[in-house]
Amino acid sequence: MSIAEKGETVLITGATTGIGYELARLFAMNGYNLVIIARNRAQLERLQKQWENEFSVKIHVIVKDLSKQSAIEEIMDSLEEHNIDIDILINNAGFGLFGPFIETPIEQELEMIQVNIVALTYLTKCLIPKMLRKKRGKILNVASIAAFQSGPLMSVYYATKAYVLSFSEALTNELAEHGILVSVLCPGPTHTQFEKRANLEQSKLFQRNVMNPEEVAKIAFRQFMKGKTMIVPGATNWILVRSTRLLPRKMVTGIVRKIQSERNK
Ligand SMILES: NC(=O)c1ccc[n+]([C@@H]2O[C@H](COP(=O)([O-])OP(=O)(O)OC[C@H]3O[C@@H](n4cnc5c(N)ncnc54)[C@H](OP(=O)(O)O)[C@@H]3O)[C@@H](O)[C@H]2O)c1
Repeated sequence: MSIAEKGETVLITGATTGIGYELARLFAMNGYNLVIIARNRAQLERLQKQWENEFSVKIHVIVKDLSKQSAIEEIMDSLEEHNIDIDILINNAGFGLFGPFIETPIEQELEMIQVNIVALTYLTKCLIPKMLRKKRGKILNVASIAAFQSGPLMSVYYATKAYVLSFSEALTNELAEHGILVSVLCPGPTHTQFEKRANLEQSKLFQRNVMNPEEVAKIAFRQFMKGKTMIVPGATNWILVRSTRLLPRKMVTGIVRKIQSERNK
């Protein structure tokens, strides 16, 4: 059954795997047209074919590496060329990197900042003007429970997610009077490609309290469509987020260091 108003379009970054894939599928299933963005052309085109057949919606594919500076301008050109208006923006693409800051490659960290922060901010900036004119629109930014404290051994990743949380909450406040809803999704550990890409496969972080991306996306979809500002899927994740506010910051940083250091033999 479709809940989308006729012709509504959702743009989602990082739609090929994990949480982004599940969210994109849910929106298509509910009758929304999609613009799906990631680097893997074959996977994007496979999803386009599959969802257009399965859900009778229109899917526009943009193959783009969001770590490249020109990516957002090229995305905007493609939308203009195909005359596509975006009603809902989901800034989901992102990645992490495990390791002591003195050892991790700066090239990967600069790319991470570009994808997790710069692309998210720039795309939001570019898509807001039309939402303002229509006096309606929705934005969902994907942060993490990592956003609530600093994270030794993943220092840059945690900091990028703190940015996403802070930026999103500020926009929620600024844009409400213009009819634009901004929500922020803060998942805890979730079984996706993230683990492998961040070099976290040996981490004990991904052995306890791990959710699957379908569950995370279902909760996110439901709460986002209800207009909830901060979405933290799973009771344990909620408790973790709350407890960081009660303890001294230095102590929390030390606990995170300990958890991050635990590796399988
Ligand atoms: N999994 C977790 O434990 C967890 C927890 C909290 C928050 N999150 C956040 O959730 C979001 C989704 O991650 P996930 O767990 O679903 O991981 P994932 O399975 O690795 O998915 C990441 C998505 O982002 C895309 N992507 C990565 N780098 C890109 C780039 N340079 N340009 C364009 N697209 C890019 C990937 O597609 P291509 O490879 O095809 O480009 C993929 O579709 C991220 O923002 C992540 O930080 C994840």
